[in-house]
Amino acid sequence: MENDNRIKILLIEDEEFDVERVKNTIERFRDNIHINQIVSSGSDALAILKQNPDFYNIVIMDYQIAGGLRGEALIEKIKEIDSTIQIIVITKLTINISDFNFAQKLMNAGAVWYCTKYPGNIEEYIYQPTDFVLSIFNAYERYKLERLRQKSNQKLENNIKIILRSKEIISVSEPMEKLKDDIKKIAESEIGVLITGKSGTGKELVAHNIHYRSKRKFENFVPVNCGSIPDELLESEFFGYEKGAFTGADKTKDGLFEIANNGTIFLDEIAELPLSAQVKLLRVIQDGEIEKIGRTKRIHVNVRIIAATNKNLQEEIAKGSFREDLYYRLNIIPINIKPLRERPDDIKILIDHFLKVYCNDMGKIVPQITDDIIQSLTNYDWPGNVRELKNVVQRLIFNSEDIVTQEILFDSMLGKKLNSVRKEESPFSFNEKEIKSLKDMEEFFRREYLNFVRKHSETDSDAAGKLGLPPSNYHRLSKKLGLK
Ligand SMILES: Nc1ncnc2c1ncn2[C@@H]1O[C@H](COP(=O)(O)OP(=O)(O)OP(=O)(O)O)[C@@H](O)[C@H]1O
Ligand SMILES: [Mg+2]
Repeated sequence: MENDNRIKILLIEDEEFDVERVKNTIERFRDNIHINQIVSSGSDALAILKQNPDFYNIVIMDYQIAGGLRGEALIEKIKEIDSTIQIIVITKLTINISDFNFAQKLMNAGAVWYCTKYPGNIEEYIYQPTDFVLSIFNAYERYKLERLRQKSNQKLENNIKIILRSKEIISVSEPMEKLKDDIKKIAESEIGVLITGKSGTGKELVAHNIHYRSKRKFENFVPVNCGSIPDELLESEFFGYEKGAFTGADKTKDGLFEIANNGTIFLDEIAELPLSAQVKLLRVIQDGEIEKIGRTKRIHVNVRIIAATNKNLQEEIAKGSFREDLYYRLNIIPINIKPLRERPDDIKILIDHFLKVYCNDMGKIVPQITDDIIQSLTNYDWPGNVRELKNVVQRLIFNSEDIVTQEILFDSMLGKKLNSVRKEESPFSFNEKEIKSLKDMEEFFRREYLNFVRKHSETDSDAAGKLGLPPSNYHRLSKKLGLK
């Protein structure tokens, strides 16, 4: 029926006589309540619910239908199909009304109410009619609430998915893959984490991933840069103050720990905290309570702390600028993110990722990038780690039309030298056993050098030009050194 705003009911009852009596009971409310379908078995009920998702609001079911699926098992199956459907059980069991065990079993399985059939022979009304009808109206209110909650949860879940997509940790290298596995485990726990790593390695990114994968994900993630808050403001920033607590406190202010309550606080650059603030932080961790300035009663907070630093805290402890007890409280699970140069496998995939993301943002076609340019970028040291790489890719896109040339690369690196080859990756295959004299060594390096230049030249005359040799001499030298 179109535009039917009545409460929609599926009735599971196998006795004709009782069906009639249920109908009689709600007859007076036919403008509000409608039995849309009547079935006599559990399996028929499940089939109908599956065929008509989001249609029924309430299932009224007899507790003791003959054969097959019934009772608590049926309730559970219905809730599996749609957890928002409300189930009212009717029973002619001569159970004692005060039998809480029975009621509890039904509620545990997922029913919202139960009514006992009237004993005796009352033809029109099978139940205490007011109880029965009220239970339907109440169940319907609950249905609407649960629908709303489900909808807003879905919205929140979708938002979290979008956040997680934008905070994806891009990597293929072994240490990072392991780190991603660790993050999943750490997120499920409530354990404190200390993230260490050089600037731009992705410490904040990791903290985001822990929070948005944890059960605190619907609550706030509050990032705090400890180094950027002046010492004298730390206490009021962290713990807030009451109106009138000091001159200028014209209204109550929530501190960052209150804002992060039930969520996560990310204490970045933790090594910058002065010792006085470290003591207060330790107290919060130990007691789970904060002292708001100007308030006598302490406030209980439940905050997960993720700390990060690019300093070596052990050294700070040795220098006396970081409290050892706080270090052990924070560093329950240590996460160290390796610098990019120690995981060169990640460089290409990160370049591809940022190319795609920023070309999309800038509405540009992804420029072609040749293997030798990727090679140069892979060999580079990346002191600024992933942040630096991201900036370089943005400049590459900005500077390029359809292909990235060496010149564009040079400009995008802001003049930084790229060709510096790292020690551990010498292009020369030096074999000590074959080199017996200084002369051998001289010859070896002449040959290797010539080879290196040839490898990095398009043509012979290009190579000769780089060596500053006329082509004829270049050919003679190649021949002498046994190179083709
Ligand atoms: N593996 C990665 N995949 C994708 N993006 C990354 C990755 N690592 C870092 N980034 C990006 O690089 C930038 C720097 O990362 P982030 O701010 O997390 O580093 P950080 O270690 O906190 O740096 P700092 O110590 O300077 O604060 C961010 O834009 C981040 O999203
Ligand atoms: Mg950071």
